[in-house]
Amino acid sequence: MFFIFHYFCIYYLPKSAFMSTYHVPVMLKECLEGLNINPEGIYVDVTFGGGGHSRAILERLTTGKLYAFDQDADAKAQSKLIESKNFTFIDANFRNIKQYLRLFGAKKVDGILADLGISSYQIDTPERGFSTRFNADLDMRMNQNGAVTAKNIINEYSVDRLHKILGMYGEIHNARTSAQAIYTARLNKSIDTINDLKGVLQKHTPRGKENKYFAQVFQALRIEVNEEMLALEEFLQQTPEVLNPGGRLVVMAYHSLEDRLVKNFIRSGKFSGDVEKDLFGNDLKPLESITRKAIEASDEEVQQNPRARSAKLRIAERSESVENK
Ligand SMILES: C[S@@+](CC[C@H](N)C(=O)[O-])C[C@H]1O[C@@H](n2cnc3c(N)ncnc32)[C@H](O)[C@@H]1O
Repeated sequence: MFFIFHYFCIYYLPKSAFMSTYHVPVMLKECLEGLNINPEGIYVDVTFGGGGHSRAILERLTTGKLYAFDQDADAKAQSKLIESKNFTFIDANFRNIKQYLRLFGAKKVDGILADLGISSYQIDTPERGFSTRFNADLDMRMNQNGAVTAKNIINEYSVDRLHKILGMYGEIHNARTSAQAIYTARLNKSIDTINDLKGVLQKHTPRGKENKYFAQVFQALRIEVNEEMLALEEFLQQTPEVLNPGGRLVVMAYHSLEDRLVKNFIRSGKFSGDVEKDLFGNDLKPLESITRKAIEASDEEVQQNPRARSAKLRIAERSESVENK
């Protein structure tokens, strides 16, 4: 529930409250410390966005290299502003990290940063359809060439599937009623825009909790459109293979569903269940947590950048002793 507050902030506070630039990087100092940068090392920022974290990493490299991923064409355009021979932008989904790094000749790296979710720029660009503050087509694709939009989901999913995503990804209490309302409304007319959707759900919106409810609906749709949970799982599973022993994994999540995956994977090398043991009873897990608990932004940072409020930062190190599975 705490994480939902994040969506309140980003959807309902004015744009000027957050940024005068593409995106203000969250917990920059903590992320850099977490990466434990070797100036000659090889690093990956899998969520380039406006490049705030990437630029700071590059400043700390001498002969080292930085590879940055983003699936958004606007982020790719931002990457062109960086002129450094140490920098390579990879226009791809981070769920394919291993394959792309290999393609670019970087089999093993010393640190990986993931600052999950969407950028302030994406939220604040009305036509991307991420924000309930604007009226626009129901889109919500991070990758503008993606095959599925929020409009497809709203107009084509069965009641059961809508119920499942609203409940699972939005943690909405009246998920079935909301799903049924969408299904009934679209029998008359397709639901194309944000205002169409709000109109359909108006009757079912808990009184006094309208903002929270719509933030939850939007969170659910965005996760489904971009297959965010699946992409995160696939990415995390590849990180032990990509990292050199002693290499760092630094991940910042903005809602509890993502943070839970990250936490479990770091704890056990799996998304559920206990840590496996070898014959001698030693833990068989590829990563060691560096921090006891998730790191959160300071009050001062949250005041300056409300987006930082719900961020949970976790840092892990690739174990020296466990071979890649
Ligand atoms: C929170 S922003 C990153 C902001 C960045 N750290 C900065 O300082 O500007 C997240 C970015 O990651 C991208 N992204 C999210 N999931 C992705 C994925 N699975 N593959 C590639 N890019 C992704 C989004 O398009 C967005 O630009």
